[in-house]
Amino acid sequence: MIRSIAPGLIAVVWAGQALAGAPGGSLGQLVAEGEQRWKSSPDPRDPVACATCHHDPDETRGWAASFPKYRPLPPPEGRVMTLLQANAEAVQRHYGLADSERAALAITAYLTWRGAGVPVSPGIVAGQPVFDGRLQALAESVGRGEWLYARRCQSCHDPGAVAPAVLRFPRAANGQVESLEGFLGRHRPDLPSPGRDGQPTADVIAFLMSRLAGRPVGGAP
Ligand code: HEC
Ligand code: HEC
Repeated sequence: MIRSIAPGLIAVVWAGQALAGAPGGSLGQLVAEGEQRWKSSPDPRDPVACATCHHDPDETRGWAASFPKYRPLPPPEGRVMTLLQANAEAVQRHYGLADSERAALAITAYLTWRGAGVPVSPGIVAGQPVFDGRLQALAESVGRGEWLYARRCQSCHDPGAVAPAVLRFPRAANGQVESLEGFLGRHRPDLPSPGRDGQPTADVIAFLMSRLAGRPVGGAP
């Protein structure tokens, strides 16, 4: 079990990606911020934090490899979400932060860092129950994502060539940290932005992740 993260260790692990000397813009800092957010609530009157409920590190270590997946939220909210989208929803619900973006990104970076090396297994966390209805919803999301990909992406990228890049997010680039959802939102200014929270974004990412089953999270560059 990882009890705490030595900053030096983060720097070594992410050395290939983090940009030195960029305040707020390095992945190591983002991971450390995510660990802080995960382990302590921003509200002193309500100390329940993510880690209070999600105390099994083996389970949460499998999350990054298993998303996007169906989140069974109260109707009509239940849908296939990316890990960032699920974290944003949880940050709003449990921490009551109106602007969940930075906290959700940091927590996603932390969980992805913790999940590095776990083989991608769409919709499934090892040792956790599997629900057919949720896998069916994921299969439908992958199907929509494939259709969107064919219309909006295929002309420039073969999916096999671009999919591995999905495992390198969240990443640091030009002194900024960014999520895949944020990158895709800005990637094609000529098309309507699918939005960080949008279903089309989750669908395209579900399609790309479905092609990466078995590859380790934090994939070798
Ligand atoms: C009061 C307890 C509680 C707190 C606090 C809490 N969660 Fe959860 N969370 C749950 C429960 C229960 C589930 C799972 C039930 C289910 O599968 O829907 C869950 C599910 C999740 C999932 C989906 C996991 C999966 O494999 O589908 C994510 C992601 C998540 N929580 C993130 C967070 C984050 C981030 C925080 C802190 C901002 C947080 N949670 C705080 C109780 C909590
Ligand atoms: C008009 C051509 C074009 C289209 C259409 C296009 N891309 Fe790209 N894409 C690029 C170029 C050029 C780059 C490299 C420069 C950059 O990062 O923006 C790139 C980079 C990427 C990267 C990052 C790769 C890396 O290794 O950093 C991803 C992921 C990606 N595209 C996904 C998509 C997806 C998903 C779609 C459809 C929603 C899409 N692209 C549509 C041209 C395109």
